[in-house]
Amino acid sequence: MPVSATSVSVTQLEADAVVVAVYADSPPAGAAAELDKATGGLLSRLIERKEISGKKNEITTILGPAGVKAHTAVVVGLGPKDSFDRGVAFRAAATASKSLAGKERAKVGYYLADDWSPDQAESGVAGSIVGCVGQDLYKAKKKHFPPGEILWSRVDKGALASGTILGDAQNLTRRLVNEPPSEIYPESFANEAVRVAEECGLAIEVWDLARLEAERCGSLLAVARGSDREPRLVILKYNGGKEGDAPLALIGKGVTFDSGGLSIKPNDGMVTMKCDMAGAATVLGAMQAIARLKLPVNVIGLVGLVENMLSGSSYKLGDVLRARSGKTIEVLNTDAEGRLVLADVLDVALQHNPSRLIDLATLTGACVVALGNDVAGLMTNNQPWCDAVSQAAGSVGEQVWQLPMFAEYGEQIKSEVADIKNVGAGRWGGAITAGKFLEEFVDGKPWVHMDIAGPAFLDSSKPFLDAGGSGAYVRTLVEVARVGSS
Ligand code: BES
Ligand code: ZN
Ligand code: ZN
Repeated sequence: MPVSATSVSVTQLEADAVVVAVYADSPPAGAAAELDKATGGLLSRLIERKEISGKKNEITTILGPAGVKAHTAVVVGLGPKDSFDRGVAFRAAATASKSLAGKERAKVGYYLADDWSPDQAESGVAGSIVGCVGQDLYKAKKKHFPPGEILWSRVDKGALASGTILGDAQNLTRRLVNEPPSEIYPESFANEAVRVAEECGLAIEVWDLARLEAERCGSLLAVARGSDREPRLVILKYNGGKEGDAPLALIGKGVTFDSGGLSIKPNDGMVTMKCDMAGAATVLGAMQAIARLKLPVNVIGLVGLVENMLSGSSYKLGDVLRARSGKTIEVLNTDAEGRLVLADVLDVALQHNPSRLIDLATLTGACVVALGNDVAGLMTNNQPWCDAVSQAAGSVGEQVWQLPMFAEYGEQIKSEVADIKNVGAGRWGGAITAGKFLEEFVDGKPWVHMDIAGPAFLDSSKPFLDAGGSGAYVRTLVEVARVGSS
């Protein structure tokens, strides 16, 4: 999306709208003070009368403000000054952006960053790009109109450029998740990855069915077997660091549609299952951003792409699969397919000698039961690495919570016929038994599993984000890569 800097003042910008911000219970400052002065103290009066409180994401739209060239002014609340951070900056800008996207507008100027650090400004810029895009991909009458041009005042060039890259990457992830499964299936997702790789200079390898067979990816292939669509495994490489430095590996679950297979899901559980490739889409979005930002790190992104369907060739309950690593897996539920796909993708990742791994997956409903829709579950075999990922998420305002990995959970996936089975003893602790299953395939390397089943897809819209694919954790992954390189 076209974003540029402006040095024109908030009152003089010829635009459809300008956006200013106020902190909770504080008098207008910076651009908001200029707007206040031009309008003869209108903002101060609205604050005085408690029409504007400045609480987080509160929006006040002033049509045709006097003394201001823009047709509309939007005042967004930032909450208390002492709790302001990058997450608040992202959401405030995104809320204003979403509110303005309700109508077609050519030019919108953001005057929020007067007292923001470059990091905070970067998050704000990203928010202004993410908020105005919705899931209305196939509606003739759109609900969201991204403006023709976004301008930011008082943001340094670097933050403007990196904020734009992050916002665009998050929107890429969101679009891929929002596309219907008739459009995004393993082959077409891989084609999207090729397009992204070419455009931002990533090396890419796509494994087709024959290659997957030659590589003995028996676990991934079993899931794919019931579908008419061939599976793919995509490997993206970014070498921004020193030659020979072990890469960070990002691994994504890319089940482009999860019907449950023979353990078929009921209608209500299946309706949103186009989102089951969100882990893969998050990895692709992050790889795009990491390459465009030219981060001085080596990163490798791997996504396993399959459709989990039913047919005469579907894999069955009781089947025993041989994963690429050699481990055998007894299948007791074909709807626990994500871990079977990841088992082989993790094994391929290990072949590239990564220093650390993160996998992202819409893996279990149990994680949504445990943590709700706004928080991803973290599971790990290495506490310092998990702390680093958690810290990165917190610093960009994305929420995560660690779940325990006690050995007892691992007992539950032992099988009588094979090395392990693909479900735990019962429903309880299902997010963690899934995590324990994945741990079997990382060979003790520092690894964090992020179960994003809740946050990846919103059932209803938020003030700062339309419903559907959220693009959550793209910014976290980029932050992890950044911190690793500093
Ligand atoms: N893709 C689902 C998990 C999911 C649920 C993602 C809700 C997003 C929202 C996954 O493949 C699945 O079906 N998991 C089963 C595992 C069970 C059979 C052990 C589940 O969560 O019920
Ligand atoms: Zn499933
Ligand atoms: Zn699934």
